[in-house]
Amino acid sequence: SFDPQAIQAAIDAFADMPGALLPILHSIQERVGYIPPAAVTPVAAALNLSRAEVHGVISYYHHFRDRPCGKRMVEICRAEACQARGARQLDAHARQRLGCEFHQTSAEHDVTLEPVYCLGLCATGPAVSIDGQLHSRVTPERFDALLEQNP
Ligand code: FES
Repeated sequence: SFDPQAIQAAIDAFADMPGALLPILHSIQERVGYIPPAAVTPVAAALNLSRAEVHGVISYYHHFRDRPCGKRMVEICRAEACQARGARQLDAHARQRLGCEFHQTSAEHDVTLEPVYCLGLCATGPAVSIDGQLHSRVTPERFDALLEQNP
């Protein structure tokens, strides 16, 4: 559950700005960790938009989550240098292994999978961040081993 005041605070902070929708949504996600479906109505009302318009923006931008993250956050670098070192194969493996796509949370593993674009480990990719900890040269086998390691 989340604090409904967080939603109101985000609305209050930006509602007067032109183009307030995106800043409000960012702010809600920052405060709550995701955008609760219950936020759609007050945001729409504050900006004089329809609920469908607000919902459309939330689903258009992959950055916005409409449910909480999993217990762990796995970010796989999809930028060029890592791609050249096998990141594509790694991300196919990760999606299959977790049973979810990017921007989703694996129900079985309680892991949220996100793409990132460069973790600064370009020379030793594929690079992965797990709960903020960086790992380089992550092969599919290594990925599995990292996942098995206690949370
Ligand atoms: Fe992947 Fe830089 S390109 S860490």
